[in-house]
Amino acid sequence: MAGEERTTKKRAQRIDLNYFKRPHRFRRWRFWLSVAAPVGAVLWIAWHGATGNPRVYSAGRLSSAHAVLAAKCDACHLKRAGTLRAKVDDPACLACHDGPIHHANQSFAPHCASCHEEHQGRKLLAVASDRSCTQCHASLRTLGAPSNFVRTIHSFSSAGHPEFAALRPGAVDPGTIQLNHRVHLKPNLAGPNGPVQMDCHDCHRPPTSTEPLRFGSAARMPVAIAEKSLLPVAIAASAYMAPVTYAAHCALCHGLQFDERFTESVPHDTPQVIRAFLLKKFQQYIATHPQELREPGPERTLPQKPVPVRVVVRTPDEWVHERVSMSEQLLWRKTCKQCHALTLAPDGGLPTLAKSNIPARWMPHADFNHQRHQMLGCTECHPGAPTSRETADILLPRISTCQKCHHSGTDAARWDCSECHTYHDWTKQKEVKGKLVLSGLRRGE
Ligand code: HEC
Ligand code: HEC
Ligand code: HEC
Ligand code: HEC
Ligand code: HEC
Ligand code: HEC
Ligand code: HEC
Ligand code: HEC
Ligand code: HEC
Ligand code: HEC
Repeated sequence: MAGEERTTKKRAQRIDLNYFKRPHRFRRWRFWLSVAAPVGAVLWIAWHGATGNPRVYSAGRLSSAHAVLAAKCDACHLKRAGTLRAKVDDPACLACHDGPIHHANQSFAPHCASCHEEHQGRKLLAVASDRSCTQCHASLRTLGAPSNFVRTIHSFSSAGHPEFAALRPGAVDPGTIQLNHRVHLKPNLAGPNGPVQMDCHDCHRPPTSTEPLRFGSAARMPVAIAEKSLLPVAIAASAYMAPVTYAAHCALCHGLQFDERFTESVPHDTPQVIRAFLLKKFQQYIATHPQELREPGPERTLPQKPVPVRVVVRTPDEWVHERVSMSEQLLWRKTCKQCHALTLAPDGGLPTLAKSNIPARWMPHADFNHQRHQMLGCTECHPGAPTSRETADILLPRISTCQKCHHSGTDAARWDCSECHTYHDWTKQKEVKGKLVLSGLRRGE
């Protein structure tokens, strides 16, 4: 480079080596600040200590559920030798509410505080991190026999979570009631008063629904409450579809008529009850219509020769027995058999019916809520229903359907384990006799 030479020495001469000895406004400030800040902090702590506010030692805001305890650190941080312990042991939590164990065969019981992270601000305490579940489920070990559940679950991703059990090969529909979805969903189905178009809601709705049933005679639908659900009972009852019943969903189209003398149906009940009903009906009938005991006998076809009409006269018992037997033939062999898996008995015995077994829940090891997904059409999750011909078809959604919305990232519905699963077995919940006192709940009391 041409011109003036720049050496290190020349540059060093430009630096004033005594600059720090000269007084300066900012430096003075800095000195006084470094003295005042700690003194202020000590005074602040002392003042709060004197007024009995322990919040200064806090590790962060408490969760919304525990916000009322902000002035009562010792509710969780039990005192040992007069001082609060930073660690919170399970008995402190259990004094206010139970947290029943997950499974009796789990290899250890994690601390309450390891899943319910406190001092993280006003967040939902019941939302546990996936880590708190995968510490076991990534490689599940059990006391005693190995678990029958899938033992490697990492996250709700396609590789991390198994397909739902009801959709794995070998899964069966335990229901025995015959139903051809395709036939019933076709246009212009013969209804009670002319052609109709049925839809899913005619047969499937939550038990809490109050809309009138189009093809049922039941006053009320059965309430199927999700056992062991995190959801409150009232919500759980509206989360799932009520199992289909004859009275609520089939009765008006599939009557149980038994004889042309009557317009009414037999009760939809056991064969024993139906036999007793038939006996009573025909006994009452013949008592008021005795002329029917005389019936024309079988016609003899001898042309040209007129024969006197033969009349068969029966006793009322014979007549009743014959009518009951005819009605039963019709019911057992045709009417009931259309829907039921039914085995006939020899010699006039009563048939046996397989239990209907329509499941109220298909996925008992997870929570689901139809109401929270009501923005979706039924066939988005149950695409097989309109074309299904057999009861044995399994019409439930695959995990890939859920993963369209429940996946990682912010533009998605939650996908943490605790969104869909409960941890505690609430059927084992113990009652808690609360000991919390109101005094001291508010600061300065
Ligand atoms: C509802 C229960 C609860 C209350 C009330 C509560 N804490 Fe905590 N606190 C916890 C839990 C749980 C932890 C985590 C401890 C553990 O893992 O064992 C914790 C941890 C701490 C820690 C340690 C922080 C760390 O990172 O290890 C401090 C300090 C603390 N709390 C202070 C307070 C103070 C001060 C108060 C009162 C203003 C308070 N806490 C009230 C439940 C509570
Ligand atoms: C002094 C009593 C008290 C103590 C001690 C206490 N809690 Fe709570 N907890 C409450 C109250 C009050 C609620 C709010 C009412 C409810 O949901 O039951 C609550 C609610 C909860 C909830 C439900 C939160 C929600 O979002 O619905 C969880 C989970 C919980 N506590 C866990 C813990 C854990 C873990 C500990 C121990 C670190 C603990 N609690 C200690 C009183 C207490
Ligand atoms: C492995 C993680 C884990 C541990 C350990 C754990 N919990 Fe929970 N807890 C959860 C999850 C997840 C939920 C929400 C789903 C449920 O109800 O199981 C929950 C829910 C709760 C609720 C709220 C119930 C409601 O009203 O919604 C309480 C209270 C509770 N736990 C207390 C405890 C106590 C007390 C302990 C310790 C004895 C404990 N938990 C240990 C994960 C855990
Ligand atoms: C300490 C180990 C452990 C932790 C932590 C744990 N689990 Fe489990 N989990 C088990 C065991 C053991 C079984 C039962 C296996 C069996 O009975 O064969 C099980 C079974 C299950 C099942 C199937 C049976 C059922 O209960 O419906 C689900 C779902 C489940 N866990 C979800 C969770 C979730 C969600 C979490 C986190 C909040 C969690 N687990 C945390 C050990 C654990
Ligand atoms: C709106 C009237 C209507 C309702 C309600 C109705 N069905 Fe039907 N069902 C029909 C008609 C009409 C047929 C004959 C259709 C055909 O063969 O094309 C039929 C046929 C059947 C069949 C024979 C199907 C086949 O494969 O041919 C069964 C079994 C059946 N229904 C069961 C039920 C059950 C169970 C319910 C109640 C959950 C029910 N139905 C509700 C009108 C109805
Ligand atoms: C149109 C279809 C249909 C016809 C026809 C029908 N059932 Fe049913 N039946 C059902 C359905 C659906 C259930 C399931 C639950 C309910 O309705 O209580 C059921 C349940 C039953 C049950 C209760 C036992 C159980 O396992 O749930 C008995 C008993 C029964 N039916 C007897 C009969 C008899 C006897 C006949 C003939 C007279 C008959 N059913 C005709 C559809 C039918
Ligand atoms: C979007 C909802 C959802 C999320 C998130 C989710 N699961 Fe599941 N999980 C399900 C459903 C639905 C089933 C089927 C339940 C059944 O068959 O009864 C299931 C089944 C299971 C089973 C039983 C497996 C078996 O062998 O049948 C376990 C264990 C389990 N999940 C653990 C977890 C864990 C751990 C996480 C977090 C890493 C998680 N799940 C996240 C919905 C979910
Ligand atoms: C977001 C997906 C989704 C949508 C949308 C959906 N379902 Fe479901 N459905 C499910 C799941 C998951 C189950 C299994 C729940 C269980 O039993 O644990 C189920 C179960 C059912 C069952 C069996 C009974 C029960 O509740 O377990 C019926 C019947 C049913 N759905 C009908 C419908 C109808 C009718 C609609 C439209 C109003 C509908 N579903 C919309 C996902 C869905
Ligand atoms: C005529 C009444 C009827 C109508 C209409 C109807 N279903 Fe069903 N559905 C049933 C009966 C009965 C069962 C139980 C027997 C079986 O498993 O097929 C059932 C079972 C189901 C199940 C339980 C899972 C399974 O594999 O059995 C789902 C899901 C379902 N239906 C969805 C639908 C959807 C979605 C629609 C509308 C597109 C619909 N159904 C319309 C009567 C009906
Ligand atoms: C169209 C997108 C979509 C699909 C598909 C979907 N979900 Fe959801 N789900 C949501 C939204 C949105 C919420 C409520 C917001 C949230 O919790 O993030 C929700 C909430 C839930 C909840 C919490 C319910 C409650 O009571 O709070 C569960 C459990 C759940 N979904 C399970 C499932 C399962 C299982 C499937 C598959 C059969 C599924 N979802 C498919 C969007 C979807």
